[in-house]
Amino acid sequence: MPREYESTSLRDLLCGSISEAHVGQRLNVCGWVAKRREHGEHLAFLDIRDRSGVVQAVVEGSVDVKSEYVVRVTGTVTPRPEGTVNVKLSTGAVELSDCEVEVLSLAEVPPFQLDDRVEIDEQVRLRYRYLDIRRDEMQSNLRLRARVNTALRRAMDAQGFCEVETPLLWAPTPEGAREFVVPSRLNPGEFYVLPQSPQIAKQLLMVGGFDRYYQIARCLRDEDLRADRQFEFTQLDIEASFVSQDDVMGFVSEAVLDAAEVATGVRPGEIERMTWAHALDHYGTDKPDLRFAMTLQDLSSAFAATDVKAFSAPTVKALRVEGGASFSRSRLDELTEQAKGLGAKGLAWFRVTADGLDSPLARYLSGEETAAIAGVDGAANGDLILVVADEYELACHVLGAIRVTLGSPPVGEGPYRYVWVTEFPMFEGVDEDGHLQAAHHPFTMPHPEDLGLIETEPLKVRSQAYDLVLNGWELGSGSVRIHRADIQSRIFRALGISDDVAEVRFGFLLGAFRYGAPPHAGFAFGIDRLVAIFAGEDNIREVIAFPKTQSGADLMTGAPKSITERQLRDLRVRIDPKGK
Ligand code: AMO
Repeated sequence: MPREYESTSLRDLLCGSISEAHVGQRLNVCGWVAKRREHGEHLAFLDIRDRSGVVQAVVEGSVDVKSEYVVRVTGTVTPRPEGTVNVKLSTGAVELSDCEVEVLSLAEVPPFQLDDRVEIDEQVRLRYRYLDIRRDEMQSNLRLRARVNTALRRAMDAQGFCEVETPLLWAPTPEGAREFVVPSRLNPGEFYVLPQSPQIAKQLLMVGGFDRYYQIARCLRDEDLRADRQFEFTQLDIEASFVSQDDVMGFVSEAVLDAAEVATGVRPGEIERMTWAHALDHYGTDKPDLRFAMTLQDLSSAFAATDVKAFSAPTVKALRVEGGASFSRSRLDELTEQAKGLGAKGLAWFRVTADGLDSPLARYLSGEETAAIAGVDGAANGDLILVVADEYELACHVLGAIRVTLGSPPVGEGPYRYVWVTEFPMFEGVDEDGHLQAAHHPFTMPHPEDLGLIETEPLKVRSQAYDLVLNGWELGSGSVRIHRADIQSRIFRALGISDDVAEVRFGFLLGAFRYGAPPHAGFAFGIDRLVAIFAGEDNIREVIAFPKTQSGADLMTGAPKSITERQLRDLRVRIDPKGK
């Protein structure tokens, strides 16, 4: 960091940048008292901390400071006496001696130690988040996030993208179940919603001729929170005109790889690709974690004419667990419960032993079936073979989830394995009314080879939608959009969306498309997720300055909270007392 940026009216240097090069200089530093140690009655050692690190100040005589007081220290940079050099500290070869200490601000005893690596209850951390983020770990996570944002901006700018900010107060969509709603004071009884993503706005920007748009966009979704989900999160959102899917994947790869290089010091090689069908078949998920092998194997043909009821199903899939023969019965029961929880009728297990397969089901199998299980790729004595027989997708999903349970390291643990998953299906099943459901969103362009199947075999239609996955987390998704009215009508029809309903829900977008819509495609990925993985964290809260808890509360501000009668009246909102 160039020195001219560090010095201010109050200080000359940041604490962490003081070194032997400054020996002999008398300098001012500012910061918090991280630690205080006494040496006899008239000598105190203070560790002064600021955003850059810690420096030791030696104060003779009495000094009235306590932990977390904010101070300005004037001292002379001096080499530490022999034997007292601290190699763990960047400033450990020097100290400030002959110090004068000016107290700038007093501090109460903090509710937890800020410098120790002790486990702190997360509720307490979130309640006092402003103290929590003083800690090294949080400082480094949030600074990493800022560096990633800068790298992303630079990469998009270099590729000719223009940053445009889109509104936070947006129009409600009927059935927008996960939208946060904002009452309008000037238009009582009417509402805005906070955008779940800038999807429609960015498509309008394409109609508006922007050609290449990006935004580091805040998105808001009222959905159940998990380790990788918050109500508010941030996307790198992009959209481009006159491009193919490959072009978009190229733009995004460039940005992600640049960010990876900034965050980890290593630029990963080209990101590999896999079709959705391949991912499901081999990994049982559209978010394959490629850090470990353990792929699913298909035994359907060996069981096609089985007499064993448990295996009589369209698909029989197996998973080999290396060394898993030693699993206890209760561990196997847990896995069975997991499988049932995911919809399977059960989970069959077979221990591979020197004497053949060991399992309650072993004696019912035919010779061919036994050979198929014992012969799954790589099977050796001491392994466990888990088998699920069911409809194809269900069997894949269940074993895919068990694969993750048994094999996945924590998400932030290296190596980083990126993969593009392509050719998602256009539709995923049907809703209660028997209407097909869009797998991505209704503006996604079908695969050009499958256009003829929309009306006849819709579940076979592939889309031009693609996801980017890192270590088993979905980083982002995108698609080529429909820009032709005829194809859009066919998709709406397939989804059971009538022209009238389409007009109400997406009228302004469809209207805009009538005035010359360029072919366009885009993508968005979650910056919170990317940074969490780079930071080695398995919850995105650790890379967000002021996150919400699992139940949606902000423990620091107390939000959500009630508002005054007066505010409610102005907004013409009435609370139903029975609703609580
Ligand atoms: P999608 O809904 O898949 O696509 O979102 C893209 C990415 O945003 C991140 N994300 C979240 N991160 C944290 N908390 C959440 N609640 C949350 N929800 C989503 C994920 C996800 O992969 N408009 C489309 C993109 C497009 O087609 O261009 C969209 O928003 O990392």
